[in-house]
Amino acid sequence: MARVALVTGGTRGIGAAISAELKAGGRVVVASYAGNDAAAAAFHADTGIAVVRFDAGDFGQCSEAVEKIHADHGPIEILVNNAGITRDATLARLSREMWDAVIDTNLGSCFNLCKLTFDAMRAKKFGRVVNVGSINGQAGQYGQVNYAAAKSGIHGFTKALAQEGARFGITVNAIAPGYVDTDMVRAVPPDVLQKIIARIPMGRLGQAHDIARGVAFLTADDADFITGATLSINGGQHMY
Ligand SMILES: NC(=O)c1ccc[n+]([C@@H]2O[C@H](COP(=O)([O-])OP(=O)(O)OC[C@H]3O[C@@H](n4cnc5c(N)ncnc54)[C@H](OP(=O)(O)O)[C@@H]3O)[C@@H](O)[C@H]2O)c1
Repeated sequence: MARVALVTGGTRGIGAAISAELKAGGRVVVASYAGNDAAAAAFHADTGIAVVRFDAGDFGQCSEAVEKIHADHGPIEILVNNAGITRDATLARLSREMWDAVIDTNLGSCFNLCKLTFDAMRAKKFGRVVNVGSINGQAGQYGQVNYAAAKSGIHGFTKALAQEGARFGITVNAIAPGYVDTDMVRAVPPDVLQKIIARIPMGRLGQAHDIARGVAFLTADDADFITGATLSINGGQHMY
């Protein structure tokens, strides 16, 4: 039986590439999204991948969604916590709402969905969790104390949960992308983006596919000795 994979934020950007890569590898993929129905419908029409709308930062919505996915497709054995947002500002201008939104969406979502899928993975004695962190969680970034804290939290969360999952055949890893050409990065002012690219030894932004290949590697059935690791995919921008 094909294994069931849930990719949060799986309808656009990096997540869409991950969803497509996992489907190409024979997984039954469900891609979640937050509110952009048009993008999700276009993605579904292009790929045939099932899409489901819920806020990954809201425990109640995650709970209902996981229950429905389990009923419709079977237990989730591969979980990719990819959903993420930015709300950038220096601390002086950062509101409590901007802090909470970024922590809940990026880090709270990892708790919500791991909590709700872990028992089924334990029962199957198989699980693959990949949490999408960021170079900015490793290195910090001006104007991103919320995002850097959430992403850095993901890296700690990953290493702790990896220790809990190991004896049940569940691996938990993180990917730390560098700057990848998606809507999130297209929102960066062009002059700032040019300065960022100048600091990438490979001389280009990453493509979503570069990250998706890493997820396919970490979620393979025979990747069973890789756990608690962070795979940096950043064109050499930050060697950690
Ligand atoms: N792009 C980069 O350079 C870069 C670098 C390092 C790390 N990352 C991380 O990689 C991940 C993907 O980034 P991206 O650039 O592909 O982002 P993106 O193009 O902005 O796409 C974000 C996806 O996440 C979904 N999403 C947002 N908030 C959500 C929520 N509360 N619940 C469920 N889904 C939600 C969006 O749904 P809608 O379509 O409905 O909005 C969309 O599918 C994020 O975790 C990001 O922090 C990105």
